[in-house]
Amino acid sequence: MRLHRSLLPLLVSAGSALAAVAPASEPRAAIRQLRLEIARHDDLYHRAGRTEISDTDYDALRVRLAALEKDNPADALAAGADLPPVPDDRAGTLPEHAHHEPMLSLTKVRTPAELRGFHERLERRFGREDLTYVVEPKYDGIAVSLTYERGRLVRALTRGNGRTGEDITARVRAVAGVPGRLRGGDLPEKIEIRGELHVPFAEFDRVNAARAEAGLEPYANPRALAAGLARRADAPPAEEATALRLACFGVGRCEPETALPGHQHELTSLFRSWGLPVITHAAMATGSEELLSSVERLRSIRPELVFPTDGAVVKLDSRALQAAAGDGMDAPRWAVAYKFAAEAAETRLVAITVQVGRTGALTPVAELVPVEVGGVTVSRATLHSAAALARLDVRLGDSVRVQRAGDVIPVITSVNLALRPADARPFVFPSECPECGTPVVSEGSADAVRCPADSCPARLRRRLGHFASKSGAGIDGLGPVLIERLVGQGLVREPADLYALRREDLIAAGVGSGAASDRILEAIARSRSAEAWRFVAGLGVPGVGRAAARELVRRHGTLEGIAVAEPRLRDQLLALLRAGVRPPGVAGNGGALRGKMFVLTGELAGFTRAEAAARIEAEGGRVAGSVGRGTDYLVAGENPGTKLAEARKRGVPVLGEDEFTRLLGGN
Ligand code: IVH
Repeated sequence: MRLHRSLLPLLVSAGSALAAVAPASEPRAAIRQLRLEIARHDDLYHRAGRTEISDTDYDALRVRLAALEKDNPADALAAGADLPPVPDDRAGTLPEHAHHEPMLSLTKVRTPAELRGFHERLERRFGREDLTYVVEPKYDGIAVSLTYERGRLVRALTRGNGRTGEDITARVRAVAGVPGRLRGGDLPEKIEIRGELHVPFAEFDRVNAARAEAGLEPYANPRALAAGLARRADAPPAEEATALRLACFGVGRCEPETALPGHQHELTSLFRSWGLPVITHAAMATGSEELLSSVERLRSIRPELVFPTDGAVVKLDSRALQAAAGDGMDAPRWAVAYKFAAEAAETRLVAITVQVGRTGALTPVAELVPVEVGGVTVSRATLHSAAALARLDVRLGDSVRVQRAGDVIPVITSVNLALRPADARPFVFPSECPECGTPVVSEGSADAVRCPADSCPARLRRRLGHFASKSGAGIDGLGPVLIERLVGQGLVREPADLYALRREDLIAAGVGSGAASDRILEAIARSRSAEAWRFVAGLGVPGVGRAAARELVRRHGTLEGIAVAEPRLRDQLLALLRAGVRPPGVAGNGGALRGKMFVLTGELAGFTRAEAAARIEAEGGRVAGSVGRGTDYLVAGENPGTKLAEARKRGVPVLGEDEFTRLLGGN
């Protein structure tokens, strides 16, 4: 959570982001501008799950605002509405409900000295040095409160403004591992369980891979995905629906209170016994030295954790002492969040290039003097969009801060104005596509600038690259250099043109010897009989990735059928068919396995699981995860699992790999 006002005096750093706002000589305008700027970052963070500046710079904006408001109370009043003291993550699109107990923030600390300060305040309050704490990972997702009444899940709310949250019950019920009913006999009448909805890295990678295939922007980080998924009113795409997980770590209201144990660490085992998913990697620490080393240990194992974290949460273990310490205005006095610094470094911006994506989106990219950030050498970073670039006011030659905060792509978060060279030139965002010269168009928010020309060579190169990749027809040897030459010489204007290429074309395009050209021609020829879905997904039409392509093949049977049913794909599919692509199984009878339901178990020598499933689907069959009433065949490889016994019990025919291969048509 973002910083709260009561913490402002704790923070000293005044980052370079400040320099971007108006000077204090016009306090009213500066206050207004700061408020707008802070509100914009709050909005980005809470609603879009994105950050454009580091937490330190954000905190500095708030420090600066508080100081200005304090020194200029009349201007503060005249500048209009105040910011809410606690950022509000409500999107206004979901029904709302009040929390029984407010959902508080945590006071942030960033240095060992600040953590010692926290411990020393409690030491003084309780007059003892041997205070025991639990040190837990701070999961980086979105906070959720689940109400169970007599053991039944009745409601799940986001944090909202801390008092009222948004109802996400249906979404949370569908999260893997969240029990609809708690186990055990001795359950409280009513309990609010607090936890974090988050996306583990493996799920995040899986979702982004599927998005890349579908031609969609990747999520910047797991938190952005978690926030998006948790609050979506409609059903997310199938690949994203299963990505969320819950980790429970606390309690709001509990009736009766006596249902709860005396210590924080015991909550975890109680939750587990009820069947709730709980946080992992928590440790106990007594006194300030152990406390510091526990936090340090968490920091050091952070790269190995399978879920995203942005710090450690330190809590007094005794719940009696927690109650005695009490809560401040919107954060408890018995706990703090120790935030790990995002990995960042300063370097020089030497150039800005503008990339044209498959869909025509223009993205400015910072070309940097290579610098090491958290163990990785970074020489390029995204500047997001023309609008973001203008807001940062970054100029060629500037010293910039590059950050990697568990994000996929490094970002530029600020400019060090103190080091700006006198001759630093502003970057003028092109009004024409840098590739084809077509005037660009702005869409929706002015943030998105696009080249609208379908024939733009940059877009075409990316489309062809996607078509030739493993997500598409899979043509070995057709790499970016060759694609660039083929497009440059006008030999290829769309994927179907690849199938008309001749040996002399490739030689003319600079593919060395005749033998090398032959190898590529063979790879192109082989790809004519790739599975049907590959041609569909290979077109890279937004929203039509692997899963959607498979579904289209299942539904319509043939590429011709899809071309008829889907106007967006029609021209390109017909061109491919004219060019002679013949995916197996969809040419004649609409699929040899039409309507048959398969289940796979064990390891096959000739196929991966995914390949076997793809072949079955290409022949019109379907694949299920477990043996059931509708199963027609079980395909059993080496070391089959329990599905084999289940199939035998039900009398489902079991195919070995040879029989399966024959069924597919012998290859
Ligand atoms: S305890 C009174 N423990 O961090 C607040 N919070 O700024 C009690 N979070 O919104 C929070 N991991 O969603 C706690 N192990 C953990 C946590 C954790 C993540 C989140 C939480 C809260 C935010 C606090």
